[in-house]
Amino acid sequence: MIDIQQVTKRYKNVAAVDEVSLTIRQGEVFGIIGYSGAGKSTLLRCLNLLERPTEGKVLIDGKDLTALSDNEVRKERQKIGMIFQHFHLISSKTVFDNVAFSLKAAGKTKEEIKKKVPKLLEMVGLSDRSGHYPAQLSGGQKQRVGIARALANDPKVLLCDEATSALDPTTTKSILQLLKKINETLGITIVLITHEMEVVQDICHRVAVMEDGKVVELGDIYDIFANPKTDLSKQFVQTVHSLELPERLLEGRKGPIVQVVFQGDSAEEAVISETLKQFNVNANILHGQISYIQDRALGTLIIELIGSRRDVQKAIDYITKQTSRLEVLADVA
Ligand SMILES: Nc1ncnc2c1ncn2[C@@H]1O[C@H](COP(=O)(O)OP(=O)(O)OP(=O)(O)O)[C@@H](O)[C@H]1O
Ligand SMILES: [Mg+2]
Repeated sequence: MIDIQQVTKRYKNVAAVDEVSLTIRQGEVFGIIGYSGAGKSTLLRCLNLLERPTEGKVLIDGKDLTALSDNEVRKERQKIGMIFQHFHLISSKTVFDNVAFSLKAAGKTKEEIKKKVPKLLEMVGLSDRSGHYPAQLSGGQKQRVGIARALANDPKVLLCDEATSALDPTTTKSILQLLKKINETLGITIVLITHEMEVVQDICHRVAVMEDGKVVELGDIYDIFANPKTDLSKQFVQTVHSLELPERLLEGRKGPIVQVVFQGDSAEEAVISETLKQFNVNANILHGQISYIQDRALGTLIIELIGSRRDVQKAIDYITKQTSRLEVLADVA
């Protein structure tokens, strides 16, 4: 659907996006996460050629946008909706006129506009705000107008640049729910950039992790949470699933403390009891949690393993083989 081939965007000597290649599939919600300055916005803006890549190609449905003239690009851009962190509404226009603006720009008639805008406002739950001005709306409502405007010309793709970063957690959830509904009912492909792993966990099917203009990790959402490979991905996963042990729990321990990650769809609860049976060790459970990533369970358990050095090592090897991940958090001297 969206084929990004070796895209580089340079500003003077800085490569804001550095040789990125990615394929975004039809109908998916694709997340791009990274810290500030990683190049997320620049990459997103390269997708609709708001920024022309210095090198590389962007193909949408097989059509190479980078080969088109600026005029042709403007036409293609109508098939790509975009929403922003700060909404970018026209403050002197009503909700109706803000949404109508996109339709006018695309050359729609007054009749078409009169028919279409109410449908769009209904889709985003703002039917009763048609005559309001942006200043009379909450942040969440403003973003709903932004979404209605982005959907006005029936785009195939919706690009979201930190669309929920200016909103409180509850409003964020409701906007994410709306994006999910749009993806599921209209089949629109969504590319969403964020620095919040919770947003990724809530609605993305796949995610790319960016650092210094490069994609350093890419995977299905569950796999990234269950088994992050780079330190950066681990950091992001920890922002959502962190089990912090109080220091005092680490003192006076008799055995190593290990963190075990279970993937919920196999019979893993048995692993610990099986370990205790097979090897001559005891386990002290210190902390545990189960998270749900789009309905699939992911469990984390922190335990202290007590026994002879040899038995404990055998137990660790066994658990490692049977589970998704085992990490020794603290060993005894
Ligand atoms: N128009 C520009 N001119 C010069 N440098 C730019 C320009 N736009 C972006 N950059 C630089 O490119 C790098 C990536 O910026 P970008 O805005 O894409 O990051 P980001 O990941 O979206 O960050 P944030 O999370 O803060 O929005 C930064 O070092 C930035 O300073
Ligand atoms: Mg940005």
